[in-house]
Amino acid sequence: MWLRSIVLYIHILAAIFWVGEMLFLSTVVRPYSRRLEPRERTELFTALGQHSRPWAWGAMVVLVVTGLLNVTLAGIPLTSLVDPHFYRTPLGATLDLKVLLVIAMIAVALWHDSLVGTRAARLRGRLADHPKDPALTAAVAHTRRMASWLGRMALLLALVVVFLAVHLALYL
Ligand code: HEM
Repeated sequence: MWLRSIVLYIHILAAIFWVGEMLFLSTVVRPYSRRLEPRERTELFTALGQHSRPWAWGAMVVLVVTGLLNVTLAGIPLTSLVDPHFYRTPLGATLDLKVLLVIAMIAVALWHDSLVGTRAARLRGRLADHPKDPALTAAVAHTRRMASWLGRMALLLALVVVFLAVHLALYL
């Protein structure tokens, strides 16, 4: 009983960390950054992201490990997650949907981080060498817009995952 509570506690703390980082960036940093020049805005997000993303990804590893432990400690064999009969029960449908959305969220977050990380740095380096190149300027603006949308999508998915997590409690 204690073990289950402790694992769930760690799971919830990690969820607070993962969702909290995204909420902080979108509700505090993003509105603040509007008063900055586009280049300064990118620098601010890059600098903050470099510090916060390792913590957020650490939290995601903890979420997946403790999530699977939650399943086992609730008496559900992990093989049930891929069992079509389990999916037909309310518990199975909620849990499987949650796991699917977690996978989608991780994919979107990885895509977002690769855009704001390596691709953005490469484009910025090339733009520094050719500051007047219109194609490069457009590519930088496009990357910035894409990153912004992917960030929002990852946040939306995370909020739906938390809703499903709460809903799951009805069946456990
Ligand atoms: C493979 C990934 C995951 C699995 C298998 C999983 C599984 C579970 C299970 C079985 C519970 C219920 C535990 C219990 O009541 O005994 C739970 C609770 C919870 N999960 Fe996850 N989880 C995963 C990822 C996530 C993620 C990514 C988030 C947040 C973004 C999250 C947020 C939560 C929250 C907030 C609760 C507590 C809900 C409540 O007690 O009302 N989980 N999870």
